[in-house]
Amino acid sequence: MIVKLLLDRKREGKELAPEEVRELVAAYTRGDVPDYQMAAFAMAVCCRGMTDAETLALTESMRDSGTCLDWAGFPPSADKHSTGGVGDKLSLIIQPLAAACGLAVPSLTGRGLGLTGGTADKMESIPGYVAGLSLADYQKVVADCGCSLTVQTGEIAPADKKLYALRDVTGTVPSIPLIVASILSKKLAEGAESLVFDVKCGAGAFMKTREEAVALAHALVTNAKGAGRKACALVTAMDEPLGFAVGNANEVREAIDVLQGRCAARDVIDLSVELAAWMVSLAKGIPLDDAVAWCWENLENGEAYRRFARMVALHGGDLEAFQKTLETSVSSLEVVAADAGYVQSIDANGIAQAAFELGAGRGKSSDAIDNLAGVDLCVKRGDRVETGAVLARVSTTTRPEQLEPAAARVRAAVVIGAAQPSPRELILEEIA
Ligand code: URA
Repeated sequence: MIVKLLLDRKREGKELAPEEVRELVAAYTRGDVPDYQMAAFAMAVCCRGMTDAETLALTESMRDSGTCLDWAGFPPSADKHSTGGVGDKLSLIIQPLAAACGLAVPSLTGRGLGLTGGTADKMESIPGYVAGLSLADYQKVVADCGCSLTVQTGEIAPADKKLYALRDVTGTVPSIPLIVASILSKKLAEGAESLVFDVKCGAGAFMKTREEAVALAHALVTNAKGAGRKACALVTAMDEPLGFAVGNANEVREAIDVLQGRCAARDVIDLSVELAAWMVSLAKGIPLDDAVAWCWENLENGEAYRRFARMVALHGGDLEAFQKTLETSVSSLEVVAADAGYVQSIDANGIAQAAFELGAGRGKSSDAIDNLAGVDLCVKRGDRVETGAVLARVSTTTRPEQLEPAAARVRAAVVIGAAQPSPRELILEEIA
């Protein structure tokens, strides 16, 4: 393989053979292709795109760059992947819910770099919870309770880790084939037979427009099926935060409230049930309506919560200590409505910025997260509020000087107007 000639052809928009893509990725992973050539390749893909065959070859070769887990002997396996959004604590509900319906849910997850924490950060706000298990221990937890929220190890798709770091600094993140290969290589290596993608769309999402989100959803499903998995994608709204809580510990508390039937966040509950039901339907080969009914049953009878509590215990977490943590004194401020009217919209990005400034996210990977920092909304779109009503509470333990600016951001993010807005459409498309 002469890399320069591959680059010439890709730059001219010609299709590379699958073996050429595979050879390139294998050589890059070994260190035989330098970063500058791989960066040129990524830029050529950004500008010229990739055919389905090229995208699949890239995905599979990145999958094969590391360990691929095997779930033989386990119940039917499924996982859900979200492209990430504000207040997205759905994995904490969906994984134990799908496990309660008899699935093995191998879910390797991430730490957040950005405005709010990732799923692993949220789970680590539970005292004692160890998200960084070895792959062998992770499989033991799944064998015991059906699910495990474990942070992805370096053994999974190392080519993606290397390439993503390069894309991040060379302006080559926004390319559908590269995003598909990045997301899917990790999910394929993780080994679930069925994959459900929650592709978020809107101000608080990676994909800002519906068109981009739908294109990504189609590409994920096509390539997952091309790699022999059952797959579907939902394109869902991320213009407003999911639920009321945005942060880390407060999101875990909200997820537990859903699992214990105490939560009023309809968007979180409905989307969790829908996504879990798709996992069950694909993995068990049963009609979606039956899977929805089964998920409701396991949410309402407490089995999903029991799975969650067991998973936390197996990871060393202490839910009683977590409840006490929530009572720790924090610095907080209420955000009140300047006018009466209906909540027209709640800008997800503004809320995420406020949470970040309060200490809920990381600017760089070495930054520590303030588990108790965040925003607790008291209203949702469509609610009627009177002047002086509490719209939200902002909290921090480490950055009290940020309370006022964060409160101002939240006030600006919650738009109040005279007319009652139409109900929000949560699931925009289903691609199966
Ligand atoms: N998330 C990923 O894992 N990879 C991308 O390329 C983009 C989002």
